[in-house]
Amino acid sequence: MFDAHIYKERRYKLKRRMQSGLLLFLGNDESPMNYPDNTYHFRQDSTFLYYFGLNFPGLAAVIDLDEDREIVFGNDLTVDEIVWMGTQPTLKERASRSAITETYPLVELRSMIEKATARGRSILFLPPYRHQNVLRLHWLLDIAPGDIASEASIDFIRAVVDQRNVKGPEEIVEIESAVNITVDMHMAAMRMIKPGITEAQVAASVTEVALAAGGNVSFPVIATINGQTLHNHFHGNTLKPGDLFLLDAGAETPMGYAGDMSSTVPVNNSFTERQKEIYTIAYSAHTEAVKLLKPGRKFREIHLAACRVIAQGMKDLGFMTGDVDEAVSAGAHALFFPCGLGHMMGLDVHDMEDLGEVYVGYDGQPKSTQFGLKSLRLARELEPGFVLTIEPGIYFIPELIDLWKREKRFTQFINYDKVETYKNFGGIRNEEDFVITADGYRLLGKPLPKSIQEVEAAKTRPLLHHPEEE
Ligand code: GLY
Ligand code: MN
Repeated sequence: MFDAHIYKERRYKLKRRMQSGLLLFLGNDESPMNYPDNTYHFRQDSTFLYYFGLNFPGLAAVIDLDEDREIVFGNDLTVDEIVWMGTQPTLKERASRSAITETYPLVELRSMIEKATARGRSILFLPPYRHQNVLRLHWLLDIAPGDIASEASIDFIRAVVDQRNVKGPEEIVEIESAVNITVDMHMAAMRMIKPGITEAQVAASVTEVALAAGGNVSFPVIATINGQTLHNHFHGNTLKPGDLFLLDAGAETPMGYAGDMSSTVPVNNSFTERQKEIYTIAYSAHTEAVKLLKPGRKFREIHLAACRVIAQGMKDLGFMTGDVDEAVSAGAHALFFPCGLGHMMGLDVHDMEDLGEVYVGYDGQPKSTQFGLKSLRLARELEPGFVLTIEPGIYFIPELIDLWKREKRFTQFINYDKVETYKNFGGIRNEEDFVITADGYRLLGKPLPKSIQEVEAAKTRPLLHHPEEE
């Protein structure tokens, strides 16, 4: 946990922004995998972590804006539970670490909410993303489960988003630590990738790095020779000579902050000429996007600049024709880059996606519905303290190519005969994490090999991660 005053100041800022009523925060509970006592790894709700720092299940909290009270609800362990789970500090002791003095058993939450409701006071809550919390809200507030998301408080959502979007110095330190572990995960993968090993072995090795650092992975590992599938969680293939291997993986620190990086490397020690040509375009889009990062610039513009680099590169290679600006405005480049350039990152790898991308990444403005742009998670003007990813890619997705070709989509911009010959190419993505500073940006963490020369050199260097070998 951070020092108690950090949590106190965060709640103070939130209280100053909100007017009246009760702010209700629900923590996460254990989530069973296949029977009640066999649970998934526990992950606390990120907004709960942000304001209260308490990283264990069975909690709720209320901030009473009118009476200026901050209350945490939860239960101390019974002796029966201590037999199985060991000694734990009391709720009071734990809550004091985030400067909370008022604690009550969980059963008291309902009577507090009922009393406030009876007096006509408003109860403000955030949209739940776990069914258990949908049911808890239904039980506490008597709102039909299907109506809960639409009854969530937009003012509360916007206040939390505005606060969490701008990272404090203590958060940057944590995120940078997550990113450094993430770099180690990618370096471990680069050095082991060779023909004959399996995707599952790479996934296991990068997970080991994250776990050994004391935290966890920040999202399910993508370790695949089929990088054209954006979120590919299948790890059943064996790496063959000539394959491209795409790793998209990140670490989460014990406090819950995320790193998120992608790298693409040849399974052989060097790229083929075809791979080099496509990789060079994706790399140029990446470096061009990074150069444009600065406060006051709209991320949508940076995304479109990266799209134009990709479209120009694909035109130079004969995959596209016509005017590049027109092709990008029409969305033709999305055949190769059907997703967004990046997203906010913090306590969540896609930060606050539960609160709504339109608030987090669009400042309340509507998203585009155009294929490609509709998947851009971040478009707003950048501000100092934003932490975000840059992750352009080039993907050859056979089903998408077949569909567009069949429907004769963008035939004025796409040379389908050439595209056909690359249907088995796979996909390329490189991803790094940045903080926006007062006058530009700063790369977070140690640099990861990215250029063709750097990647090929990193692949052939001997293993360095065993201390006795260093
Ligand atoms: N790293 C996964 C994603 O950004 O979607
Ligand atoms: Mn990402």
